[in-house]
Amino acid sequence: NEIDIAVIPGDGIGPEVVTEAVKVLKFVTNGGKQDVKLTYYKLGAEHWLETGETLPDETLASIKQHDAILFGAVGAAPGDTRIPSGIIEREMLLKLRFSLDHYVNLRPSKLYPGIESPLSNPGAIDFIVVREGTEGPYVGNGGSVRTGTSHEIATEVSVNTAYGVERVVRDAFRRASERERKHVTLVHKHNVLVHAGHLWKRTVEAVAVEFPEVTHDYLHVDAATIFLTTDPSRFDVIVTDNLFGDILTDQAGAITGGIGLAASGNINMDRTYPSMFEPVHGSAPDIAGQQKADPTAAILSVALMLDHLGLSEEARSVEQAVEKEITSRQELTDNRTTSEIGDAIVALLA
Ligand code: NAI
Ligand code: MG
Repeated sequence: NEIDIAVIPGDGIGPEVVTEAVKVLKFVTNGGKQDVKLTYYKLGAEHWLETGETLPDETLASIKQHDAILFGAVGAAPGDTRIPSGIIEREMLLKLRFSLDHYVNLRPSKLYPGIESPLSNPGAIDFIVVREGTEGPYVGNGGSVRTGTSHEIATEVSVNTAYGVERVVRDAFRRASERERKHVTLVHKHNVLVHAGHLWKRTVEAVAVEFPEVTHDYLHVDAATIFLTTDPSRFDVIVTDNLFGDILTDQAGAITGGIGLAASGNINMDRTYPSMFEPVHGSAPDIAGQQKADPTAAILSVALMLDHLGLSEEARSVEQAVEKEITSRQELTDNRTTSEIGDAIVALLA
């Protein structure tokens, strides 16, 4: 009875927050009957500088053998000219997400008690965004006719398949059916993006029939950004495409207290390949190596991972410990180190 995890700490604060996430993972599983096997992979910008490798096929094949992946963050400092722009994102991160068919990009957004939102009247924020992860405008389906003149034409054509849309919409409804409010909001822009938008809309109508207990509505993406600011408590499950989801989840992270708390899962619900769990933030070169990073997002990513692996009790324990720890922050001026925060969360699990 062992769970077999691939760990990719990555660059910058990645290794620092992953150390704390692993601490929590070991603690919460050792209390039960689970053994955890961890296999570390060195990947990212630093690794590219040392070896010229992004994600070799043999490494990918080996990663595919594990039950799940715990990921920190990758990427160099923005001004680092030694690394070609975007190479790590495209040839490593996107390659992982696409080759492992991570079609559900799951991002929970919760305003924990004790955390200040930049909104003056945030209400109770507790929703999840189910962002499509393998299609949309992010598939590289385009090109540019580089005439060197003002006649250059560049296209970036969004791909939406009935298969791809249906599986993520069904996942959103299933998740909604397990939540208290049981409500799905489709976000798109079908008045202008009529072809893709109508496929999404028709798919939601069709799948909704299978979930009579789940209600649903629709918002154009521009209106959705307004409601995320004025009335975020109206949302329960948002389902949307790759690009809209990317943008909305950054906004969702901002209104729920920031980047140090936002966790995510890149999930393959068919379990043909391992799913990957990571904080939403990047490698934060500005604070790397100083024990200044907040490991909470990485630790909440462990909760998502445990839940995906069927260890829902352990997942809940981690989430509850994090919630308690966050609530206690009100009395602190939080200049604790990364590992002190990890230790505090472990102490609450004990
Ligand atoms: P970033 O998320 O690394 O940092 C943005 C700001 O938030 C910085 O001021 C940073 O210090 C702060 N921050 C981030 N995580 C924090 C934490 N856990 N605790 C406290 N403060 C935190 O985004 P940025 O600066 O745009 O990107 C830096 C590098 O990370 C780039 O190379 C970028 O490509 C990469 N990146 C990688 C991602 C991934 O691995 N999935 C996601 C986003 C960016
Ligand atoms: Mg983003």
